[in-house]
Amino acid sequence: MASSLRYLNKVALVTGGSKGIGEGVVRVFVQNGAKVGFCSIEEEAGKKLESEVNRLGPGESIFIKCDVQNEDEIKYRSTIDRFGQLDCLVNNAGWHPPQQVIDDTSVEEFKSLINLNLINYFAFAKYSLPHLRKTNGNIINVSSLVATVGQSYAIPYVCTKGAIVAFSKALAIDEAKHGVRVNTFSPGNIWTPLWEWCAKQSDNPEAMIQGGANAQLNGRFGTIEECGQVCLFLASEATFTTGIELISSGGAELNFGCKNQMMERTNIYE
Ligand SMILES: NC(=O)c1ccc[n+]([C@@H]2O[C@H](COP(=O)([O-])OP(=O)(O)OC[C@H]3O[C@@H](n4cnc5c(N)ncnc54)[C@H](O)[C@@H]3O)[C@@H](O)[C@H]2O)c1
Repeated sequence: MASSLRYLNKVALVTGGSKGIGEGVVRVFVQNGAKVGFCSIEEEAGKKLESEVNRLGPGESIFIKCDVQNEDEIKYRSTIDRFGQLDCLVNNAGWHPPQQVIDDTSVEEFKSLINLNLINYFAFAKYSLPHLRKTNGNIINVSSLVATVGQSYAIPYVCTKGAIVAFSKALAIDEAKHGVRVNTFSPGNIWTPLWEWCAKQSDNPEAMIQGGANAQLNGRFGTIEECGQVCLFLASEATFTTGIELISSGGAELNFGCKNQMMERTNIYE
């Protein structure tokens, strides 16, 4: 009888897995029988999640403390050393700076965000590919809905997310001959510690959170578990996909609306 576990004995590596979307991916993959290495800079949260998901099973996990910005520290090897193979890389670790106009954004800040949000995906892909080619594995790069629709006062962030979509497509072409699929997962508004932190940086966090929920047709944020399910689908069942961008946004990008910024002159310059 076929197992109901959708990623049984497969091995995944998730970057930025100690909280938020990465945590959702770790939980769903382990629930489906996978062995998961996950990294982040937050040791306490990582260890806590590791022991919790290992208790729940049926898969297992290993937490790896690592700053993805520092190539020397990219300990992707720990996952392979522990579990012997690699079937899926989920590039997820990233950050959204508080709202900023271009006038207040330094070139150094832009470069630093490219390093964190984009170059780390490249490095993890590069070092994982020799292992993924052996298993006909796949890469899932977490971008964002804003790569398609844009976002106000977030130029560096939107640029990094757009580049991730392009990176996935280029890599999908090159890796097809090695049997490796490369896809992008672009979430809309997902309730995570990062979203909450961004709201707290605004003048009116409550209004921003309500606006975040109202942006979806179903009037709510997405959950980290729903993100885990999308990634599991791409890794496990979506075997005829490569180079796609799967948007999971509660319909946030649909429908015409009033976008005339001249009507409301309260912007962050004033
Ligand atoms: N939350 C959303 O609404 C949303 C929407 C679209 C895309 N995204 C993207 O999803 C990804 C995760 O976002 P989130 O909201 O879950 O964020 P989060 O801040 O809640 O979690 C981020 C995770 O990445 C880890 N991390 C951050 N910097 C790191 C570093 N230098 N080295 C290693 N680990 C690091 C953190 O420790 C944490 O585990 C990001 O790439 C983000 O751009 C989020």
